[in-house]
Amino acid sequence: RMATDNKLRHVTSMLELPSGAGKISALHAVILGEALASEEHDLVFPSDDFARQAHVSSPQQYLEMYKRSVEDPAGFWSDIASQFYWKKKWDQPACSENFDFRKGNISIQWFKGGLTNICYNCLDRNIESGNADKIAIYWEGNDPGLEDSLTYSQLLDRVCQLSNYLKDVGVKKGDAVVIYLPMLMELPIAMLACARIGAVHSVVFAGFSSESLAQRIVDCKPKVLITCNAVKRGAKAIHLKDIVDAALAESAKNGISVDVCLTYENQNAMKREGTKWQEGRDVWWQDFVPKYPTTCEVEWVDAEDPLFLLYTSGSTGKPKGVLHTTGGYMVYSATTFKYAFDYKPSDVYWCTADCGWITGHSYVTYGPMLNGASVVVFEGTPTYPDAGRCWDIVDKFKVTIFYTAPTLVRSLMRESDEHVTRYSRKSLRVLGSVGEPINPSAWRWFFNVVGDSRCPISDTWWQTETGGFMITPLPGAWPQKPGSATFPFFGVQPVIVDEKGVEIEGECSGYLCLKSSWPGAFRTLYGDHERYETTYFKPFAGYYFTGDGCSRDKDGYHWLTGRVDDVINVSGHRIGTAEVESALVSHPKCAEAAVVGVEHEVKGQGIYAFVTLVEGEPYSEELRKSLILTVRKQIGAFAAPDKIHWAPGLPKTRSGKIMRRILRKIASKQLDELGDTSTLAEPHVVEQLIELADC
Ligand code: PRX
Repeated sequence: RMATDNKLRHVTSMLELPSGAGKISALHAVILGEALASEEHDLVFPSDDFARQAHVSSPQQYLEMYKRSVEDPAGFWSDIASQFYWKKKWDQPACSENFDFRKGNISIQWFKGGLTNICYNCLDRNIESGNADKIAIYWEGNDPGLEDSLTYSQLLDRVCQLSNYLKDVGVKKGDAVVIYLPMLMELPIAMLACARIGAVHSVVFAGFSSESLAQRIVDCKPKVLITCNAVKRGAKAIHLKDIVDAALAESAKNGISVDVCLTYENQNAMKREGTKWQEGRDVWWQDFVPKYPTTCEVEWVDAEDPLFLLYTSGSTGKPKGVLHTTGGYMVYSATTFKYAFDYKPSDVYWCTADCGWITGHSYVTYGPMLNGASVVVFEGTPTYPDAGRCWDIVDKFKVTIFYTAPTLVRSLMRESDEHVTRYSRKSLRVLGSVGEPINPSAWRWFFNVVGDSRCPISDTWWQTETGGFMITPLPGAWPQKPGSATFPFFGVQPVIVDEKGVEIEGECSGYLCLKSSWPGAFRTLYGDHERYETTYFKPFAGYYFTGDGCSRDKDGYHWLTGRVDDVINVSGHRIGTAEVESALVSHPKCAEAAVVGVEHEVKGQGIYAFVTLVEGEPYSEELRKSLILTVRKQIGAFAAPDKIHWAPGLPKTRSGKIMRRILRKIASKQLDELGDTSTLAEPHVVEQLIELADC
């Protein structure tokens, strides 16, 4: 402690922060060791050994880099971008943007005019720099004992074969390819193969239902869909190809037909025999792809050419196709990975996220591979066959950086610590958390039990839209506070505004916005730039609105407090209340539904649905199950309501607006905080709802 304190005190406050970065000026207080005494118990310092070897080893070093990143973003990011391979350098200023809709359409461009390829930078560039035989992927199957690996050069061979196949079946630069695969090695292979030929991948999490998959297919109209016949999750085999068949049939009804359904035979789950097949459309991966050459010319693309689409939930029923482009995303995902995890070439990195979500895009595939990292890809579930599986995998591959979600931490915490302590875990040096706020008790268990009080935790706050980390610890740079995502990454200017959009300084709470762009920012919502502007840039003019609430403490640390819009965060998965409601009302016996998030011990938030049945329909257990099944079928199992609350009526204003505030209070049983209900059109519905709470 003393040594660290002295080091912090040693730093002067002479660093003048630019005006836009005033929010982090309280970091000076931390640097100077002020404010530490009163909250000493809240601060967790990196060890001196860790800080000494870290890329950023002091607050001062961070502040110097941060200052430059916000004063001269083009210069800061151009220097970093130059470490990648560009077929042709950008010929215009590195960044041009309009972040203020009052000045015209929102637009963000980074490195425009530069030609590059992210697959080349992930694979060929690392191979050329001597890493051909380094392991790129350690694959661990669902069942213990099933494993595989690929070196960087073997991975390139596989990627090229698939790229050649895709080209051969007519996929061209700019075409969309939908990928619906579990965590097989073929998933990152497919992403990289698309990127190599300039095709735009749209990975759909393989837990989504056929209807959700169909919706995404119809939106982006792919030529090819890549999937597998089946997958094992825990002890259960799931026939993914059946889900795909149903989705393709549904898309065809909407006039969208896919030319090729490339199907990987996942023999560990199911042999190909028995798989339903449509001749002329369906193709076994193993029968064709391995026959193609292992080299494939790179398609050089503009930095602003699209790289991928990823659908995410918003406050209306229709998922949003978040579009990321190539150059800025490449530079940003790689740089955030390097600094937030203090990545070194000797690290073995494991992120438990699925590539179906943004975390798997930026921090299973692109960020790590751009850094030439060895990445563990895990097909299974972290508690199968038992709660020690993660630590078994950590010991097996000597994982040094382990990145996961608070929901997993909380679920493992409920089991005996013996599941953790029976494994060595001595390889671990950095831990990471993402997806939702991590509560301090989960943070401490993760730190003390999993990390043996040695490993800093990077609690990374970011979003599908941001492409990479926005507010995150740099693990060697400053002390952490359990539950706080700490300070902004380079180039990121978070501001907290009040409901009128006025920036609030100092210790405060409000809406989290971002001022000016960063290279990893999404550029539009696919096919709907207007919705992009309305959702993100119009709520607070001049800023990007994140949808999150945030408070800043007196030391300048940021504490994310959750979504302030109609999005709920279940086990780190973003679900729009409107999506669940529209699934429920599609049930013939449901007249109306209102969904709210409610605190859940393991999942963070659970889904709580108030359901009004059609006139005369009696409540029954069977009906409850059938409503839940409808949501599972329309969205996916992860969106199934935890609770159905029968509602003879819903609390509405006289103009017919549902008062969700009241529903949230009823759901969380905070009945003394219902507030004024006299303005409701029918105040008595509140009492009815309270009476039916336990039915
Ligand atoms: O509410 C925030 C929460 O997850 C939302 C973004 O969800 P999604 O786009 O699905 O991306 C998840 C993975 C990046 C945010 O608006 N969130 C994410 N990380 C954190 C978080 N909330 C608090 N702390 C975090 N570290």
